[in-house]
Amino acid sequence: MFAPDAESLAMKPLATKHLLAIEDLTPDEIHRVLDAARSFKEVNNRPIKKLPTLRGRTVVNLFLENSTRTRTSFELAAKRLSADGINFSASASATSKGESLVDTAQTLNAMNLDMVIIRHSFAGSPYILTQHMEAHIINGGDGKHQHPTQALLDLFTIREHFGHIDGLKVAIVGDICHSRVFGSLAPGLRMMGAEVTAIAPPTLMPAAPEVLGARSLYSLDAELESFDVVYMLRIQQERIERAPFPTLREYARLYGIGRDRLARIKPGGIIMHPGPVNRGVELTSEAIDTAQNLLLYQVNAGVAVRMALMYLLMGGGQDASDA
Ligand code: CP
Repeated sequence: MFAPDAESLAMKPLATKHLLAIEDLTPDEIHRVLDAARSFKEVNNRPIKKLPTLRGRTVVNLFLENSTRTRTSFELAAKRLSADGINFSASASATSKGESLVDTAQTLNAMNLDMVIIRHSFAGSPYILTQHMEAHIINGGDGKHQHPTQALLDLFTIREHFGHIDGLKVAIVGDICHSRVFGSLAPGLRMMGAEVTAIAPPTLMPAAPEVLGARSLYSLDAELESFDVVYMLRIQQERIERAPFPTLREYARLYGIGRDRLARIKPGGIIMHPGPVNRGVELTSEAIDTAQNLLLYQVNAGVAVRMALMYLLMGGGQDASDA
């Protein structure tokens, strides 16, 4: 059995076969993923980062929508666990010739894969794969619905920084209504005992954010000093159909973080962002570069968290003992 930290990694596998939404995991299982990620993060700091854990397993990255962070970190995670990885993009797959997602799923299923990570512009596409494939399916972001592995790496970042998640006050700011990051992070934070406030102009606030466990506020300035975490969302210009604010400059003035609002962040508080950033809109260059901004820590944690998830979904300690 491989053992970066044998005791913490010899843990039972997750009850779920797939990760389609953050609610597929219990709070205890989320802690288990984060515990395993801590061990894998330590492995990622070693000169030799490769483990034999998933040797012989085949993992497919089916990214039918653009991605830098999620796709690269899943590729790295698979390589570091010695899985055989295959990558599909929209332009390189037969979907560009009109093949349906069901036909793509059935075709890939015929090749006896072990895990598929899918990113797709349609909410629910990962679920469609589960209906036509034997493999474990991970949602790498589906439309405006969920992005559960982003939530896991964000929860990891918060837990590592504060030592706990319960009782923290977290503001999630910006384009709430188009955000799959909010769709996973808000319920994930609530499950872990944090208090979540969604902050956005009325035109970017969903009708009922409380369904996802968040109270709503229209002003960033009203309670800025009270939050432990200020999580900035990207303005998703590709998903916005009608102008929800007069100009990006106007939005940045009311909802962006620059020098003045930086000075008002609680001592010990942190800024987070899932990336990619619209520089000068959600965050000024000064707010991106401040040590309080954990943006790049989040990216680094993403590899370890995805290694942990792949490891635990494919059998955890039980399978590792075969390695
Ligand atoms: N945060 C995130 O999902 O980034 P990518 O679109 O680059 O994967």
